[in-house]
Amino acid sequence: MREIQWNLHRDLRPTRQWGFDATVPGPTFMTRSGKPLMVEWVNALPQKHFLPIDHHLHGAEVGEPEVRTVVHLHGAKVPPESDGYPEDWYTPGKSKVAFYPNNQDAAMLWYHDHAMGINRLNIFAGLMGAYIIRDGVEEALNLPQGKYEIPLVIYDRMLDRDGQLYYPVSADPKAPWIPEFFGDIMMVNGKAWPYLEVEPRKYRLRLLNAANGRFFRLSFSDGYPFHQIGTDLGLLPAPVELKSVFLAPAERADLIVDFSGRAGQRINLLSESFEVMQFRVLPNGPKDISALPAKLRPVPKTQESEAIQHRMLSLSELDNPVAEPMTMLLGGARWSDPISEKPVIDTVEVWNLINVTDDAHPIHLHLVRFQILDRQRFDKFDYQMKQKLRLIGERTPPEANEAGWKDTVRANPGVVTRIIVRFEGYAGRYVWHCHLLEHEDNEMMRPYEILPART
Ligand code: C2O
Ligand code: CU
Repeated sequence: MREIQWNLHRDLRPTRQWGFDATVPGPTFMTRSGKPLMVEWVNALPQKHFLPIDHHLHGAEVGEPEVRTVVHLHGAKVPPESDGYPEDWYTPGKSKVAFYPNNQDAAMLWYHDHAMGINRLNIFAGLMGAYIIRDGVEEALNLPQGKYEIPLVIYDRMLDRDGQLYYPVSADPKAPWIPEFFGDIMMVNGKAWPYLEVEPRKYRLRLLNAANGRFFRLSFSDGYPFHQIGTDLGLLPAPVELKSVFLAPAERADLIVDFSGRAGQRINLLSESFEVMQFRVLPNGPKDISALPAKLRPVPKTQESEAIQHRMLSLSELDNPVAEPMTMLLGGARWSDPISEKPVIDTVEVWNLINVTDDAHPIHLHLVRFQILDRQRFDKFDYQMKQKLRLIGERTPPEANEAGWKDTVRANPGVVTRIIVRFEGYAGRYVWHCHLLEHEDNEMMRPYEILPART
């Protein structure tokens, strides 16, 4: 990790960013399921941060070193000491070796900083990158590959007049934290509004929403449909045809987009009305021999009857208008409160994410993959005033393109989102949190602990 000068656009002067190696996003890892990897993450950053630290936030108190980093591989099944626990940060000049077993299905993961209290600033500065795991099941499908498979790391930023990164602050200079960040410049793979020349054929586009707080609803300007073939942590059972795909921060979508029949056209990728990037379709190219198979990979449903524990976990706002503008909590607890979620390894649990706030929160659990059971509205008033969970209306199953392996789920406001999780892998301490980075840095993150098997 080091400070670099990076060109966001041909018409801009270089922009100061923090990158892995010498790029933003960092280099894309290409790995294989079952082949472990060790990475030494070196913090070679300067001693001073260039973004506004809020010393009221947990872990960022006055006296803590300004520049601290620790790398988390999002979506990875790794031992706790390699997971990038937010308090395991280290300072410039230090490094840490992480062990990644890659003992999991083919998927696109991503790595990013996770340092306590300044995570939003470190990722905003550029500390993130894609990490692809392959396996034989995926390879046997003959999906578009090589130069026809492209990771697209999508996020938004703001720049000041000198073309430097601008992160807004609150009205209180002593407490600059803001509850969410939305930029006006759309970035893909480190460039502002880039274009890509494509051949008139099928491409595999691997999307990651790496924004601090923006949800993207992505579609093509010519209205053409496309297929989603995978979720956060692997292939769907079958392709799902879509005209737009909705991605919360940290969610991934594995897409097959067919540009054949669109030769010579310029097609914009849009998020609502914002332009994100452009595809310029070449007049011709070699014959497309790749496939979009009707069946991809079975996703066996985890049965609710297997669950030995149903947890009720509220997503709520702390009402303390004087001191704090808007602190958000998980299960009514702060980061430093005693650990309350302690699943036993290899058991299954259902987590009810009861969203009492007015915002959608993308909830991420480290280590595990899970499935979405359903969503159902509830009466907020009864819940807050009488501590009673009164469900309303129908239970809605996940969307077809969410019905695969997930590590991040959208918990909508006024809704109970139920996920089913098998706690596989390792015993030890991990975290779960909202992936809106501003929320995560301000108490919307909790440790959880996987207990060893009872004997
Ligand atoms: Cu994307 Cu706790 O991580
Ligand atoms: Cu949140």
